[in-house]
Amino acid sequence: MHSSSADEISPRESWLQERLSTALAKYDEKTPLIYRKSIDLPAEVGEWIAGWTGTGLFLTGPIGVGKTHTAWQTGRRWLEAAYAPHHPWQGSPIVKAYRSTSLFDALRPDGPDEERRTLVRDLQRADLVLIDDLAAARASEWTQERLFEIFDERYINRRPVIITCDVLPNQLSEVTGPRVASRLAEMCRGSVVLLSGTDRRKGAAA
Ligand SMILES: Nc1ncnc2c1ncn2[C@@H]1O[C@H](COP(=O)(O)OP(=O)(O)OP(=O)(O)O)[C@@H](O)[C@H]1O
Ligand SMILES: [Mg+2]
Repeated sequence: MHSSSADEISPRESWLQERLSTALAKYDEKTPLIYRKSIDLPAEVGEWIAGWTGTGLFLTGPIGVGKTHTAWQTGRRWLEAAYAPHHPWQGSPIVKAYRSTSLFDALRPDGPDEERRTLVRDLQRADLVLIDDLAAARASEWTQERLFEIFDERYINRRPVIITCDVLPNQLSEVTGPRVASRLAEMCRGSVVLLSGTDRRKGAAA
């Protein structure tokens, strides 16, 4: 005869688990192959996920220390946290990830207007935006304006971003323009994580 036990999960929990599995499978699919491996995250990153209040996370450090890998895995853990039974999240969180160079390309003035407007809107509204290697290229004045539209909307609505970058937020003015850099400095205050160590790529070859 069937008896209920304390271990049995409620229909709500089972529904949440199913939604989480689907969301994680989708996230894993768009994660570049080498960044799908689960890694230990720095304690500050764990704290950012646990105490999340709509701020940004800024991962910085020299070449090859693991900024991009950490960012992708942080996005995954953030998604897991968003589906936790006690989390007040409504609906399914949308995560958008871009390399800065592809993003700047997609925002250029010579592309189709409608596509660019849709992209800006998607990045304004997504529940989490991950931008990899933000200082990899300097954005043109036009692109800086589009970045401002994206970041200002996220800033005023306290929507989180995860940024990887090899310089600090206060050194970003040249790349993003001063208004975006200023907002990012506030959004990521208290959660700038410096990854240190040697280039892991060289370590593997040694
Ligand atoms: N915590 C980790 N544990 C094991 N391997 C890791 C870890 N973090 C990163 N790696 C591996 O180290 C290599 C470099 O990582 P990653 O590409 O994230 O570095 P990065 O800091 O973003 O480099 P760059 O500045 O060149 O963009 C990759 O092969 C990655 O899978
Ligand atoms: Mg990287």
